[in-house]
Amino acid sequence: MGRLSNQKVNYFVSGGPAAYQCVEIIATLQAEGAEVDVQMAPGAEQWIPRAFIKQLLLGAASLVSTQPMLMVGALTVVQIDHELPEVDIAWVSAIASNIESAGVQQVIWLAGTAAASRFPVVERTGEWVVSDQSYSGLPRVDIDSVVAGLEKLSQPPLLAGKRVMVTAGPTLEDIDPVRFIGNRSSGKMGFAVAAAAWRAGAEVELIAGPVALPAPFGVNTTRVRSARDMLAAVESMVDQTDIYISVAAVADYRPDMQVDQKIKKAGAGLDLHLVPNPDLLRIVAAAANPPFCVGFAAETQQIERYAQGKLVDKGLQMIAANQVGRDNGGFESDNNSLHLFWPGADQRLPSTSKRELAYQLIEVIARRYSMGSTG
Ligand code: CTP
Repeated sequence: MGRLSNQKVNYFVSGGPAAYQCVEIIATLQAEGAEVDVQMAPGAEQWIPRAFIKQLLLGAASLVSTQPMLMVGALTVVQIDHELPEVDIAWVSAIASNIESAGVQQVIWLAGTAAASRFPVVERTGEWVVSDQSYSGLPRVDIDSVVAGLEKLSQPPLLAGKRVMVTAGPTLEDIDPVRFIGNRSSGKMGFAVAAAAWRAGAEVELIAGPVALPAPFGVNTTRVRSARDMLAAVESMVDQTDIYISVAAVADYRPDMQVDQKIKKAGAGLDLHLVPNPDLLRIVAAAANPPFCVGFAAETQQIERYAQGKLVDKGLQMIAANQVGRDNGGFESDNNSLHLFWPGADQRLPSTSKRELAYQLIEVIARRYSMGSTG
């Protein structure tokens, strides 16, 4: 399933050199499952032949008009070039006033900051202003952020106004400058959870151990290395957190000392002495005014028993248990399943992509959180 399946997108393309990207954007939105309708400004035809857009839309009508029309029930994308031709200024102004008078909020403005300041409606509606990157001197928007933004606009804002903190990935505990103790966490689930919380309207802080994943669009991402680094980051943000989702596979132990020079091979063996790391989730949940705390329990056996034990023992509002150490699912996989527990009840989320699973988890968290905050 594409990320924009069953969505209708109404895409307004104005003239100017930035119009070159509309072909790529239309093709990407279609590949993600959206039904795209395009309206071109009079000046856009200088840059993009209408016949070509028609071909991309498989013959569906694409309008070149001086009277752009908002489509009811569609998500709206408006591209404004920073070198907007005179003939298109009235066209963009007409869209802007239609959007304002219809009270439409589901708009993505593709515009540089200069264009944004020219049309104040850009800052009052929709989600954000993208672009200001460049490609061969041409303005360029990050297409993934357009898809992410449309996805967000198409979903109910279950966590609007909430501040969510997510920890993700492994922590690495250094032995010397070249060696460390780590674990097999890929960070995929935690990153998916952070992205899903953002799409649900939350303001999200993601604190990630060393993983190769790019920061999810819209999410404030802080990179750390060890459990103690992660704890410092968590403690600096926890006061501004409503919901804490602890997905990280924090190393339970670290070497009792870390040396500055590479340890040389000598003799038969090497004794490492390990000391316990702080338990971040336990510390946060035990604070005077804790956020709503959701733990993860990575288990290889007796999942239910251990997960429920951690729920009670760490004083959590919810725990998401998953089986690790199998071939399918768990740490490095793109798929996973979860078994959620909270006091007095449980719910299974069957195996699916981590992306979809993260969304389902956020739905359950939002429901449980709102029940708690209304008593
Ligand atoms: N956790 C944490 N800090 C630690 C260890 C774990 O914050 N030092 C959090 C994890 O992010 C997870 C939950 O505690 O949300 C449970 O982690 P898990 O590794 O399953 O359990 P542990 O408490 O470490 O217990 P054990 O390793 O014995 O299963």
